[in-house]
Amino acid sequence: MTRDDIAAVQRIESAAYEDAWPARLFEEELSNGFAQYLVAVEESAEPPPAGPITALRRALFGGTHERIVGFMGVWFMVDQLHLVTIAVDPAHQRRGIGTRLLLECFTIASEAELNEIVLEVRESNARARAMYEAFGFRKAGELKDYYKDNHETAIVMLSGALTQSRDRVAGIREALHTAHPGEFEA
Ligand SMILES: CC(C)(COP(=O)(O)OP(=O)(O)OC[C@H]1O[C@@H](n2cnc3c(N)ncnc32)[C@H](O)[C@@H]1OP(=O)(O)O)[C@@H](O)C(=O)NCCC(=O)NCCS
Repeated sequence: MTRDDIAAVQRIESAAYEDAWPARLFEEELSNGFAQYLVAVEESAEPPPAGPITALRRALFGGTHERIVGFMGVWFMVDQLHLVTIAVDPAHQRRGIGTRLLLECFTIASEAELNEIVLEVRESNARARAMYEAFGFRKAGELKDYYKDNHETAIVMLSGALTQSRDRVAGIREALHTAHPGEFEA
């Protein structure tokens, strides 16, 4: 994610979350040396709105149109990777993009030699919890009154040792490519 992506990211954020972050928070996060933010980009036949950035991308990528369809942010902690945020444009959900982003989270953790991923998720967020559980995340605790908008409890989930989950993650990657042939980069 770069500063040029923030407007598109913020549109997804607002559509995906009721307590959406303002654009300013993404700007701050992009200057946070302990954070990394990624966007999921889809090549599209439909041209994006014209502008200098579009022209530059067209020059760099040979005329393909790109659309941001999701994003993810992580923090590098002492011995864990913290998944801070992940969201997919509602119009593009249930196509494996969340899974592809979460696979990237495991790659980032492993490349940084961090052996565990931690995250918080709203108790009521069954969709996200199902995705995390499929990756082997398990509930480690609760944070009461964590979400200030509705006083909801956060479920803290841990991946367990990544050295133990390599086969599971490899299986998810393979299943994703089988279910969506040619749609995702490796
Ligand atoms: C959670 C989220 C990122 C998943 O993105 P996605 O691209 O739809 O995810 P995928 O298509 O890869 O689906 C992954 C798994 O999530 C679960 N899931 C996703 N959408 C679901 C739904 N509507 N109902 C039930 N389970 C669902 C399923 O387990 C699914 O696996 P399956 O398709 O093999 O059954 C997306 O729903 C989202 O952006 N939600 C709003 C933001 C949010 O809640 N982020 C998490 C904060 S902790």
